[in-house]
Amino acid sequence: MEKQTVRDIEVDGKRVLVRVDFNVTLEQGRISDDGRLRAVLPTIRYLQEHGAMIILCSHLGRPGGKVVEEMRLAPVCQRLSELLEQDVACLDECVGPRVEAAVKELKQGGVLLLENLRFHPEEERNDPDFAKSLASIAEVFVDDGFAVAHRAHASTEGVTHFLPSVAGFLMERELNVLSSILQSPQRPLVVALGGAKISEKIGVLENFLDKVDTLLIGGGMAATFLKAKGLPVGDSLVEDNRLDIARDSMERARENGISLLIPLDVVIADSFRADAQSRTVDVEDIPDGWRIMDIGHKTLDVFGAEVAKGKTILWNGPMGVFEFPAFSRGTRELAAALGSLNGVTTVLGGGSTAEVVELLGSADRRTHVSTGGGASLEFLEGKTLPGVAALLDKEA
Ligand code: 3PG
Repeated sequence: MEKQTVRDIEVDGKRVLVRVDFNVTLEQGRISDDGRLRAVLPTIRYLQEHGAMIILCSHLGRPGGKVVEEMRLAPVCQRLSELLEQDVACLDECVGPRVEAAVKELKQGGVLLLENLRFHPEEERNDPDFAKSLASIAEVFVDDGFAVAHRAHASTEGVTHFLPSVAGFLMERELNVLSSILQSPQRPLVVALGGAKISEKIGVLENFLDKVDTLLIGGGMAATFLKAKGLPVGDSLVEDNRLDIARDSMERARENGISLLIPLDVVIADSFRADAQSRTVDVEDIPDGWRIMDIGHKTLDVFGAEVAKGKTILWNGPMGVFEFPAFSRGTRELAAALGSLNGVTTVLGGGSTAEVVELLGSADRRTHVSTGGGASLEFLEGKTLPGVAALLDKEA
């Protein structure tokens, strides 16, 4: 069911509580990537243009229900002021009398950012009284925090029991793009899965086995598939308790007429180090004591040709140990192959895959980089996200 959005509700002269996900990485008090701030600017600007008083709330990190000085939102507030070119009032609390007083002072178009919600244990417990206090300062709730919508917390689910609740533009876009991949992708649909562990991608793998045309398996998780086929994998990280799942997936893919492709050759190293000795071998020839670090050039040729046939491509997880330059080629070249395609919808599922977005280039306007790591994975697994389910449905 489609959800109501900020366009469907009156906000003029109203105090609007907006849940955003400003869970950014701070390095010495500075934001290294402000993508999650930029992503919600359209919602903030729309609310400003329509006369709302805007109260933003977010978590940052996992402070465990207590104040952690390094996890204050002040640096985020400062960057947001720069991006909006106006002062954003930055509070050091998220509930209580001082918050209520600051909200009273807000003018139409004014923006205020509450302190890290997770300084209160009640947030993650989805405590109804805490949710009620949060809700009490506003008349409308807008959820633009897609990346945290898989958590049933007070600020994502709890507040919706007290306020009319609708989606912001980022939430709307994430839901539209990811739902269309699940429900009505332009075909062929090619899904490339990578990353270290098969266990993190099982849900997505299983949900796509009857939807996808081609499934490409790279990254560390390929080792579990290779071992499941009876091939030697040396010292590669294998999830032995997932071998059955790998075997079943390959079997189901065969039955469903899906091509599930695993590497033909791999770059191996004699230790897990950036400067390790390395060479490229066919997957039948991985010696003892060596481990898989990247896909090889024959595999890249095959994967490149498969994505070139696709009309919709979903990619989640790097093809190798991307953080070590010597083992980043598979990921970089697959990104380059994607970046060169025209007329194709490319979706990068959050988490580490987002790191390769720059390699894709921004020219392709049909590329969607999900802001959600865990949230986009759960959505693509076919799960209902509590923060989404709680929003008002559009009229049938
Ligand atoms: C994320 O970055 O994935 C979200 O902000 C959720 O964070 P969490 O895993 O700490 O709930």
